[in-house]
Amino acid sequence: MLQCSLLILTVLCVSIQDISGSWEEWWTYDGISGPGFWGLINPQWSMCNKGRRQSPVNVEPDKLLFDPWLREIQFDKHKVSGVLQNTGQSLVFRVEKDSKHQVNISGGPLSYRYQFEEIYFHYGMEDNRGSEHQIDHHTFPGEIQLYGFNKELYHNMSEAQHKSQGVVGISLMVQIGEPTNKELRLITSAFNKVTYRGSSYPIKHLPLSSLLPNTQQYLTYEGSTTHPGCWETAVWIIFNKPIYISKQEMYALRRLMQGSQLTPKAPLGNNARPVQPLHHRTVRTNINFNKQGVQVSSNCPDMYRNMHYTATQWPRDHNIRYRNIDDLALPIN
Ligand SMILES: *[C@@H]1O[C@H](CO)[C@@H](O)[C@H](O)[C@H]1NC(C)=O
Ligand SMILES: *[C@@H]1O[C@H](CO)[C@@H](O)[C@H](O)[C@H]1NC(C)=O
Repeated sequence: MLQCSLLILTVLCVSIQDISGSWEEWWTYDGISGPGFWGLINPQWSMCNKGRRQSPVNVEPDKLLFDPWLREIQFDKHKVSGVLQNTGQSLVFRVEKDSKHQVNISGGPLSYRYQFEEIYFHYGMEDNRGSEHQIDHHTFPGEIQLYGFNKELYHNMSEAQHKSQGVVGISLMVQIGEPTNKELRLITSAFNKVTYRGSSYPIKHLPLSSLLPNTQQYLTYEGSTTHPGCWETAVWIIFNKPIYISKQEMYALRRLMQGSQLTPKAPLGNNARPVQPLHHRTVRTNINFNKQGVQVSSNCPDMYRNMHYTATQWPRDHNIRYRNIDDLALPIN
């Protein structure tokens, strides 16, 4: 009898602990608290349902616009320390607040200097889903998003995310394959330390810039954060090559759970918001026709007629890789 009431007490305490914390954290990626309802859960998140400049989007390569004024992206080489955390909705890395050296992001399409703040991991439970952004309706097994806030206008991310030009989102598509950047191991080796909601693990001296794929080509457009409140304050930069993580690392990711150790609930994966309509927004790119050995006519109308972009046809079997042509979008004539 005593055992029984103890058990009931424990269960009660656990569920109280589960619902303590902010009710605003009660959003998910499916069911009645899923993406279609985010805008109804909290009045401050109304953009999730009403916004017309939302993210993620499906990029149509044949509608990409070449912009010769797009610059190279400047990304500080400093290492950062922070904490990897299972939030119950995503796997998130947040930089240490009192870090001496912050990582600045500037250049590219950005008019301001942004300060790196956090990384979100989106991934699928199967290889054919996972990324939030799509290229010609192709979904990648995962997407790693580096968020920074506008350091020139605002004090911190919570202030910047709902203000004009507040946020930059840098998107890295994730393919399964032999990893090319060893630095990613610093994070992937900690996946099994953050299995349950609320668990966290410190990561030291992460060289952020070496997580980026080896390309300066990118796609860019203006949209929103892909989690609530979907504020339309984000400049998105999608690098034109994926980064690679191994099958084993993907397996470790897929073992993460949405709940606590006692009530693990469902796996954390499949945490992608569905693509949102473009509503006449333009996706620009710095992928140059010249550099690919294709002559650009000085006559612009010709360029529109003869040149456009296409998506790389990815093999269905993720074990087959075409590393030499792993650009997301390619110029053709
Ligand atoms: C980043 O920008 C700040 C100014 O906000 C500057 O003090 C700092 O030195 C920059 N960091 C690097 C690594 O250049
Ligand atoms: C962010 O900055 C604003 C404005 O300075 C301040 O009121 C707020 O407390 C800060 N929030 C955090 C989480 O530091």
